[in-house]
Amino acid sequence: MADDIVDLIMKIVLLGPPGAGKGTLAKMLKDALGLVHISTGDILREEMKADSHLGREAKQYIESGGLVPDELVTKIVENKFATDSSLKDGYMLDGFPRTVPQAQDLDKILAKTQVGFDYALYMESTLPVIIRRLTGRRVCRSCGAVYHMVNRPSKKEGVCDSCGGELYQRADDNEETIRKRMDVYLENTLPIAQFYEAKNRLRKVNGDDETEAIRDALLNEDKK
Ligand code: AP5
Repeated sequence: MADDIVDLIMKIVLLGPPGAGKGTLAKMLKDALGLVHISTGDILREEMKADSHLGREAKQYIESGGLVPDELVTKIVENKFATDSSLKDGYMLDGFPRTVPQAQDLDKILAKTQVGFDYALYMESTLPVIIRRLTGRRVCRSCGAVYHMVNRPSKKEGVCDSCGGELYQRADDNEETIRKRMDVYLENTLPIAQFYEAKNRLRKVNGDDETEAIRDALLNEDKK
């Protein structure tokens, strides 16, 4: 089990289609190991909520299922790596890189900051599973906890178990936008798997498996 492992350092990229379970796994690894979780999607949604210049710019891309321009997203990650010294104790990049140019930019950021990198974890999944997961996903407006109406329901409908906040459905979690996000993923993000495979830094897991099983397999494997 994950509970007895406290001193493992992981520096990884979570790669996979929308709904593969990247955010859910990241939360579990964060709880188990205290790794820093950097989700560019979460950061951009926070900017949208704050109605910042970046948030207003990102909104049009996110709500239509497209990608926010590389230079805007890379800047967020670059700042994080330049300013957060705790990343050397382990991190998970979730949703970045998402294009080959972003993967190349990440290589440059890593070379400059010397923070280190272990591997990209590719979570494979299929469209019917993805549609079921994302149309049923609910997120806490206050703390960002993620639920699923069927797979991981909150105890009280519409209310977060952790903080009592209101649960909402993301604007891009409707079937039409999910299909668009999947097309964008296949065209722009999937080639990154080959990018890391060519460097011998790609590890594959089945995102359709139970997240707890994926977490335990990773932790036990890395412990060896
Ligand atoms: P982002 O927020 O990164 O969305 P995404 O990649 O589409 O991923 P999701 O958050 O939808 O899925 P997930 O894999 O984290 O699934 P989760 O664990 O929640 O990005 C959103 C948008 O921001 C992009 O479309 C783009 O516009 C923009 N953006 C972000 N980064 C960018 C970048 N680098 N460049 C350009 N643009 C960028 O799980 C989903 C559901 O399934 C949940 O309800 C969960 O409870 C359930 N579930 C998960 N795992 C399991 C399981 N094993 N079994 C059963 N249910 C499960």
